[in-house]
Amino acid sequence: MLTMGNVHNDIRKYMRNYMMTQCILALDEIGFIDCLQKHKWVDFIRFACENKIDKEYLESVCEYLYVLNVFEKIGNKYGQSDCGRKIIGLSKVAFYFIHAYAPLFENLSSLMKNEKKYKKDVFRREKYVAEATAEVAQWIPIPVVKNMIVKHRFKNVLDLGCGSARFLIKLCEDNDLTCFGIDISEESINCGKDLIEKNNMQKRISLMVGDIFNLELSDEIVKRIDVVTSMYVFHEFLHKDKGVVIKLLTNMKKNFQDKYLLVCELCRQPVESLRSNPTAIAEHHLFHAISKQGIITSDEWSEIFTKAGYACVEEQHFDFAGQTYFLLR
Ligand SMILES: C[S@@+](CC[C@H](N)C(=O)[O-])C[C@H]1O[C@@H](n2cnc3c(N)ncnc32)[C@H](O)[C@@H]1O
Repeated sequence: MLTMGNVHNDIRKYMRNYMMTQCILALDEIGFIDCLQKHKWVDFIRFACENKIDKEYLESVCEYLYVLNVFEKIGNKYGQSDCGRKIIGLSKVAFYFIHAYAPLFENLSSLMKNEKKYKKDVFRREKYVAEATAEVAQWIPIPVVKNMIVKHRFKNVLDLGCGSARFLIKLCEDNDLTCFGIDISEESINCGKDLIEKNNMQKRISLMVGDIFNLELSDEIVKRIDVVTSMYVFHEFLHKDKGVVIKLLTNMKKNFQDKYLLVCELCRQPVESLRSNPTAIAEHHLFHAISKQGIITSDEWSEIFTKAGYACVEEQHFDFAGQTYFLLR
């Protein structure tokens, strides 16, 4: 009985976190969470009928979240508890990251045994990568980058790897800017176009599907740009060696001549310091490693920029969050 008690106390939280996460993600995907946030109370039977959702599945999941005090319940109606509001509202970013990289975790043993290869047999969910990154970005990166852009009086921005353009939309909210965004994921660009339309910013933000290794920009756009930004993108190409990124940046320096480059990256933290303070950076390092992305220190980034011919104009570090910002020219 003691062993059983210990198993319950020590293991339950892991099992529970996993199941609760899957349940919240599924409810988010079917639109139940949005509905809860809009209407406060949702009749699950009505929701199931209106959205062609299996009533029994929905009931079991809602009941489980009620048991865990994530939901409140009155008859057939569910609402968020105070604790649920915190989990669902504030942690959306964590759920999105989990969902984005879930295919890699589901196939981890096959990847380890070389039975499957990442990007050939197993793919991350690009739309959720972009959404999760954009959610994180609102806390530190967007305010920091906005300040730099205002301080240097930049007016025209080109964002490489713009995802669903949430960063550009935020930039334009209270600044008189014109922005261009490029991303290789068609799904993210389409999602971005919808958001731009919703925010009525079609005249100020233009998006294109494109590969930053093969940029096809008109001379007019290149001439107009004051600053090229890239938020959490370059580390995606660092898996094998730094040469790929050095070459990419060297070409950019050539193609964009005197333009500024503003880079935001998450930097590697030493294993021992993570062990004594295991923040979410531990998970961040893991999902980057298994998806063959490279995470390096801010000194290593500086070296790469120097090798590509860039000089540092301004640098800001936020060590507690593992973030570094470089304004280069
Ligand atoms: C971690 S996300 C960052 C998204 C966005 N910059 C942000 O901060 O919210 C990395 C983005 O880089 C894009 N990307 C990856 N390889 C690319 C390439 N070769 N060309 C253009 N975009 C690329 C991905 O599709 C993804 O949207």
